[in-house]
Amino acid sequence: MKGLLCLVLGWIYLGGASFAEALSPSVLYLTWMHDPTTTMTVQWHTKEDAPASRVFYRKMGEESWQEQGGVYTKIHKTNLLVHTVELDELDPDTKYQFELGKREETYLFQTLPKNLDRPMKFIIGGDAYFYLSKFKKMNQEIARQDPAFVVVGGDIAYTNNSRALFRDQDWELKRWRRFFKEWKEQMVTSDGRMIPIVPVLGNHDIRQISPAQKPRYFLFYELFALPNKGVSFRALDVGNYLTLLLLDTGHSYHIEGEQTKWLKRALSARENISYKLAVYHIGAYPSVYPYLGNAPQKIRSHWSPLFERYHLNAAFEHHNHAYKRSHPMKKELIDPDGVVYMGDGSWGVNPRKPKALWYLDKWAQVNAVCRVTLKSQSGLVQAVNNKGEIIDSWETSPTSRSTSCNESLFLLYE
Ligand SMILES: [Fe+2]
Repeated sequence: MKGLLCLVLGWIYLGGASFAEALSPSVLYLTWMHDPTTTMTVQWHTKEDAPASRVFYRKMGEESWQEQGGVYTKIHKTNLLVHTVELDELDPDTKYQFELGKREETYLFQTLPKNLDRPMKFIIGGDAYFYLSKFKKMNQEIARQDPAFVVVGGDIAYTNNSRALFRDQDWELKRWRRFFKEWKEQMVTSDGRMIPIVPVLGNHDIRQISPAQKPRYFLFYELFALPNKGVSFRALDVGNYLTLLLLDTGHSYHIEGEQTKWLKRALSARENISYKLAVYHIGAYPSVYPYLGNAPQKIRSHWSPLFERYHLNAAFEHHNHAYKRSHPMKKELIDPDGVVYMGDGSWGVNPRKPKALWYLDKWAQVNAVCRVTLKSQSGLVQAVNNKGEIIDSWETSPTSRSTSCNESLFLLYE
C-alpha cells in the first residue's frame, strides 16, 4: 500500500512537472541565426511527448496572430527536445508578443533597429555561470540596463573541465538548463521584454577536438541555433551600422587556417560598416594569463593584423576573470592607430588580480561586463560592475580607430 502511494505520488510529481513544463517551459530563450532587425529565433525545451514546435506571434497592439512552425531535435541520449522556431519578415525595432504551442503564457521581444536614429545598447560579458550567486547578481544588473541583447563571450555554464564537485548523472545538461532557467527568469527588461542571448564558445563549453572531428553531440551545438550547424564562428550583422565577429579561440576550430581565412573575407566585405567588434574567449592581450601563451600568440599573429587592417573598433576578450582595457595596439606595440582589447571575462566567477602590464591602460580585480552604446556619430563602452557602478569608459567612432578616454575612473589599479 505504501509502495503504491509512493508510485502514485511519484507519478503525480513527475507527470505534473512534465505537463507543466510542456505548457510553460522553464527553459525558453531567444537568439539569432540571421538578421536581428527582421528575425528572431525562439528556442525551448520539452519532454518527448510535448506539443509541436509552433509559435504564435503578433505585433504589439495588433489583434490577429500569425503562426510559424519550426523543428525540434532530441538531445543525444536523453528524452529532452530542443524546439527551434525562426520568425522572419518581422518589422525592425518593433515589439512582438509570442506564445508557444498550447498558448498558456504570452512573452515579449523586440527586433533591433535598422539604423542608429536612436542609441542602441547591448552587453558583452563572459565567464558567466560559475558561481550561481555571482551569476545571478550580475544578471540583475545586466537586466537593469535594458540591453537590446547580450553576448556571452564563452565559458557560459562551465560544463567542461569543471570540478568533480559538479559531476553526477546528466550534470552537464542540468547545469545548462539551470543557466537557461535563470536567464529566463532574470533577463527580462523593465518593459517585460525577453533579452536575446548571442553565445560564443569558451574552453569550458566544449571538449576540445581536432579539426578533423566534426562537432556532433556537444551540448553547445545541440542547445543553440547557429546559422551553420556545427560552426561556431560567424558574423552577426545589424543594419549597416554594426558587425559582431563571433570567433572561436581554438575550442572547436583552430585560430589559424579556415577560420582566419573566413575572418579576412568577412572583414573585407564589411569595410563600410560603421562599428566592427570582435568577441571571443581567450585573450590576445591577457591581464592574468601569460602573454606568451599559445592561443594569445596565435590571435596576435593571425587575427590582430586583420583587425588593424580593417579598423576593428574593439576586440572583446574573456577567460582571465578580471577587467582590462588595453592601450590601442598595432603590430604588438602601443600605437594610437591600433585596436583596443577589452573585457577579460568576470561575470560570475571569483575575480582575479590582474598584472600591471605594459600593454594595459586600465585593469581591475572586479566582477564586470561591458555595456556598449552605439550612436550614429559615436560609440561608448562602459564597464559595469555587479553593483551597477561604471568602472571604466572608453569612446570610439564609426569606422575609425580614434579613441578618447574618460579619466574619471575608480576601482582601478594604477
Ligand atoms: Fe575560459
